[in-house]
Amino acid sequence: MVMAVLLVACFIVVMALLAAVVFRHLLPLFRNPGAPSGSFGLPLVGETLGFLRPHASNTTGAFLHDHITRYGTVFKSHLFGSPTVVSCDEELNHFVLQNEERLFQCSYPGPIRGILGGSSLLVVTGERHRRIRAMALAFVASAGLKPAYLADVDRAARAVVASLRRRRVVAFCAQARQVRSLGTVAQHMQFAFGVIVEQVLGLSPDEPVTGRILEDYSTFMKGLVSLPVNIPGTPYARAVEARRKISVTLEGIMDERWKGDGSIKKSAFLDVLLENKDLSHDDKVTFVLDSLLAGYETTSVLLSMLVYFVGQSLKCLDQLKLEHESIRSSKGTEEFLTADDYKKMEYTQRVINETLRCGNIVKFVHRRALKDVRYKGYVIPAGWKVLPILGSVHLDPALYVNPHEFDPSRWEGLNQTAGKKFAPFGGGLRLCPGSELGKVEVAFFLHHLVLNYRWRLDGVDTPMAHPYVEFRRGLPIEISCHQPDPTPWFVGQ
Ligand code: HEM
Repeated sequence: MVMAVLLVACFIVVMALLAAVVFRHLLPLFRNPGAPSGSFGLPLVGETLGFLRPHASNTTGAFLHDHITRYGTVFKSHLFGSPTVVSCDEELNHFVLQNEERLFQCSYPGPIRGILGGSSLLVVTGERHRRIRAMALAFVASAGLKPAYLADVDRAARAVVASLRRRRVVAFCAQARQVRSLGTVAQHMQFAFGVIVEQVLGLSPDEPVTGRILEDYSTFMKGLVSLPVNIPGTPYARAVEARRKISVTLEGIMDERWKGDGSIKKSAFLDVLLENKDLSHDDKVTFVLDSLLAGYETTSVLLSMLVYFVGQSLKCLDQLKLEHESIRSSKGTEEFLTADDYKKMEYTQRVINETLRCGNIVKFVHRRALKDVRYKGYVIPAGWKVLPILGSVHLDPALYVNPHEFDPSRWEGLNQTAGKKFAPFGGGLRLCPGSELGKVEVAFFLHHLVLNYRWRLDGVDTPMAHPYVEFRRGLPIEISCHQPDPTPWFVGQ
């Protein structure tokens, strides 16, 4: 009798699960009149595996290339468990980003939301997003291009550049993203991480707690891009635990600052955050975590990409050197760079733009249609996912001459660079608030790097989009200091 009840119960559960699967995944496939053409791929997984297959990040990848050839720049698919409209069209991307909250809404996949926390900026929508974003804008305003921030960035850049001395081969990407030994933080401290931790929390890069946060943060990042299986020992479970540990550390720092016992350096921003009455304690912790995630990962990848592209072009390196020598010639070696110096870095800006265009650090963003949206003859059904692919627009031969060629000169005379065909920082209500901070960081780093060294790639390495960008070999570069080693490196290249 008990057995029969159990069997019936099991049957009901299985049927309910099947019904849920049919309802969530199969029903939308029959309810899409007017949706763009395309293919839903396999049941449940759809085409997700093909979409996520790693490829060189300065290419669109085989999946998009094949689909664009077959269906055009806007097509339907089934990705991340949902029917999806994929857009590689600059007009539609712009339309989607500009209609945030009206027709579309930010919608990152469940596992990413699970790990980031419910009050992460990438997760919250509506009024809550507006309030937390205001905090992000306040942070950017507190740093801005102010002398104190610029001096912190300059100091951090000098320290990392000085640590390269007497080294011949450097795994630059590993250098940029890892702390080899927490005991020697000053030498191996990650530049972008040091800057953001100093700005947000008022911690200097060589404090042990900074190393601890970075270590937990690296575990957190690995889980963010792993299979979402929350079983002890998996990268995902370790990431959830790392997030909890960072949260505890941050709470300790915030408590100390709150009590004002003086052991934590005054950070204008942490004080602003603590005084905010609109945000809960958890919101504040999540906000700090968001700033580290958004401000560290992207900037350090941008820096590696710059080293990668410039390392392949002697012409570009020489032109950068001329520009930075001219800026330095008007000031002493010890003097910090200023906002005026930054404005003079015109060629550097072109190199940064071209790196953002070719490197595609954020390849796409996640959105969802709030209602049926009619656009240029087709319908994006309500509830479907929409993926504006920022990266494929940057490599579209209809928009850029020789799009796969790294050519900073294509930005000559263009004052207004952001727009429909160039959106490395997204757009609309969610336009990246930290874009200028990130650009200043890499510009200052380049200043000290080109004034002191020449470099070239040591063998072949390629930035791979997973979709997060990683160099397979850690971007090994051969580096030589101008002063003690005048060897003409690039002869014969
Ligand atoms: C330098 C390279 C960077 C790139 C390529 C980049 C790119 C982006 C992109 C594409 C988005 C939009 C995401 C979406 O629409 O779903 C975004 C959002 C964001 N970025 Fe950045 N970012 C960079 C640097 C930074 C820095 C340095 C900070 C902070 C100091 C930062 C903070 C943020 C925040 C807080 C958001 C969320 C905005 C919102 O949802 O309202 N980013 N970023």
